[in-house]
Amino acid sequence: MDAKHRIDIATPLLDWYDHHRRDLPWRAPPGELPDPYRVWLSEVMLQQTTVATVRPRFTEWTRRWPTFADLAAADEGDVMAAWAGLGYYARARNLLAAARTIAVDHAGELPDTESALRALPGFGDYTAAAVAAIAFGRRAVVVDANVERVVARLFAIGVSLPAARKPIRAAAASITPDARAGDFAQAVMDLGSAICTPRRPRCLLCPLQHACAAQAAGLAEAFPVKKPKAARPHRHGTIFWLQRGDAVLLVRRPDKGLLGGMRAFPTGAWTDTPPLLADAPAIADWRMLDEQVVHGFTHFTIDLAVAVAHTAAASNAGEWWPVARLDEAGLPTVFAKAADVVRRCA
Ligand code: ADE
Ligand code: SF4
Repeated sequence: MDAKHRIDIATPLLDWYDHHRRDLPWRAPPGELPDPYRVWLSEVMLQQTTVATVRPRFTEWTRRWPTFADLAAADEGDVMAAWAGLGYYARARNLLAAARTIAVDHAGELPDTESALRALPGFGDYTAAAVAAIAFGRRAVVVDANVERVVARLFAIGVSLPAARKPIRAAAASITPDARAGDFAQAVMDLGSAICTPRRPRCLLCPLQHACAAQAAGLAEAFPVKKPKAARPHRHGTIFWLQRGDAVLLVRRPDKGLLGGMRAFPTGAWTDTPPLLADAPAIADWRMLDEQVVHGFTHFTIDLAVAVAHTAAASNAGEWWPVARLDEAGLPTVFAKAADVVRRCA
């Protein structure tokens, strides 16, 4: 990506941000750098929770513990309690640990580079980049879910996540300006929240319309590309309804495996191709019904033919179950469907 493209995107986006940015309690007035403590706290809170939820919680929290020193001196139980509803408690524990490290080892000030931040408890790639850029104006490439979406669209990145992470990061780096990197990151976030939304992005209002590959192709909503769900394999089998008088033969399925230990009609093997009468539980005059059982399990779908026969022989491994009381047998759905097919078609 050349410098011209970078300017093409950063300039109109920062201009848009100057007019449309959200007024959030951790942000500084335009042209000023915000309080690093507030930036850090907001970024940690926003990792699992929406802006709407975080806003009042952030205000309460900063009233109670307005600085690193106040938080460092706080009781751990109080901090945990104050975190309720904001996600994993590990984050709150790291917050307190980082505040104490900062108070003791850094004279109460956050270090101001991405790499030094990265060494503090709870600072991953995202948090270190976001705080370096937003609190200290460092050029850092900040990639959250909003940035991923906007960048995947701007560049029409045709790879699905997670493989798309690398090209998205490279593309984000190519458009991050040297100046105002923190405003740039937050501008992308605000754009993602208000304009470049997951569903029905408002491209007509977008300051980046002129530079957006997805929009040019009329495919904004198609990015980021979703990984196609692995198609479930499709199988075939036969269910055997062997009736003797008013009773039908039920078996127990093997303990291990699908529907393990449950009552069932005998079936043949479940295979990739349609079987016919292999594996019938008795030699009899089997008749195939016209209707099949169509069923979906979690990991495959199956069409099961239904074969019906009558017998007079008493000897069979299994239970002879009264047909009239079949609904009391606790049959799994796929076999209950087979009983319905027999009722309708036999
Ligand atoms: N989500 C994460 N960080 C944010 C920020 N600084 N502003 C708006 N949304 C955010
Ligand atoms: Fe998103 Fe549409 Fe703007 Fe492209 S033009 S960045 S798809 S809102």
